[in-house]
Amino acid sequence: MGYIENDKKIIVNYLTVSYNDAGPDGAPTIILIHGFPLNKSMWNRQMEKLEADYRVIAYDVRGHGKSDSGDDDFSIELFGQDLILLMDALKIEKAMLCGLSMGGYIALNAIENYPERFTALVLSDTNCAADTPESKEKRMKAIESIRKNGVEKYADDSLKKLFAPESFTTNSKEVDKAREMISTTSKQSLYNTLHALAKRKETCSKLPVIKVPVLILVGKEDIITPPEAAHSMHEKIKDSYLHIINHAGHLSNLEKPGEFNEQLKTFSTMVKQKSENLPEKNQLVSEGQNQKIISSYEEVENVLNSKILKITLTINDQYPELSKYLEEMPNTIPDEKTPEITLKNLSSYYESLNSILKKYRANHPKN
Ligand code: MLT
Repeated sequence: MGYIENDKKIIVNYLTVSYNDAGPDGAPTIILIHGFPLNKSMWNRQMEKLEADYRVIAYDVRGHGKSDSGDDDFSIELFGQDLILLMDALKIEKAMLCGLSMGGYIALNAIENYPERFTALVLSDTNCAADTPESKEKRMKAIESIRKNGVEKYADDSLKKLFAPESFTTNSKEVDKAREMISTTSKQSLYNTLHALAKRKETCSKLPVIKVPVLILVGKEDIITPPEAAHSMHEKIKDSYLHIINHAGHLSNLEKPGEFNEQLKTFSTMVKQKSENLPEKNQLVSEGQNQKIISSYEEVENVLNSKILKITLTINDQYPELSKYLEEMPNTIPDEKTPEITLKNLSSYYESLNSILKKYRANHPKN
């Protein structure tokens, strides 16, 4: 059964914001930010996949879907502030963000300005670079074209860039849904957002300081934010993992929901396990350990955890047959009983990895 939108409303930054909110109270929160000119319903398949284990929120960025536009000029900075104020209003101290395209621009802006509010990022079909003069000009031409030829024609032109050519036959229902999302966005919001996208600042120079784990996803046939853009972000973010989705264009979550969701689920499980295993800072301080030890400990732990995350994601990505054994792995190290990284818990991790590999080989003698 598909996800049934629960379409809630809240006042944020003096405007009504519409959002879907599902999953258990107290579970780690994942916030999904849609692309342009779409709305929160583009995330329904991801809500469905995640809602058993996470509080999942998908909201309409101002001027999109059922959220108001407000009176201010649109900008990625303003969208970033709206996000933080939405988190405040919903009493969410920290969250993992997953943004597609414009949603990724908003996520990158938010983590740059409020790094302490986020536990992890998923950057899907997005880019850290600002618009080139040519792309700014294309946006201004798009505004002229909407004025002259209307939104339906704009929707038709956009769809050709948003989806991989094969998706028009293999996934025509999703194409129709995207057409509906574009056609129901008001002309004024289209103009305002096109201006906001054209004037957005680059965030590439800020990527090296991102401290949280990042999963980068991109459709192999994405022509708006192509795989090269994803590779370039991957090189700049230390703790990042890149996965390219075949047979998908710019809207990879709609075109290949199964593969997209698998990546998202595995990544969020790792992030969750990692946060559950982190000892409380205050507890360590009160036990008399000094701040220097804590930060060098955290650094080592972050490096190890990110390596383990990469091993696990690689298994999931390249050896789907093997990935079912991953559930038998211990939580990532360190665990609650032995919070410090010791030779013992490291070796228990590698032993268990070895044992699932042995089990896999026994069941798949040809490999
Ligand atoms: C989007 O999907 O959000 C847009 O394609 C972003 C853009 O045009 O830069």
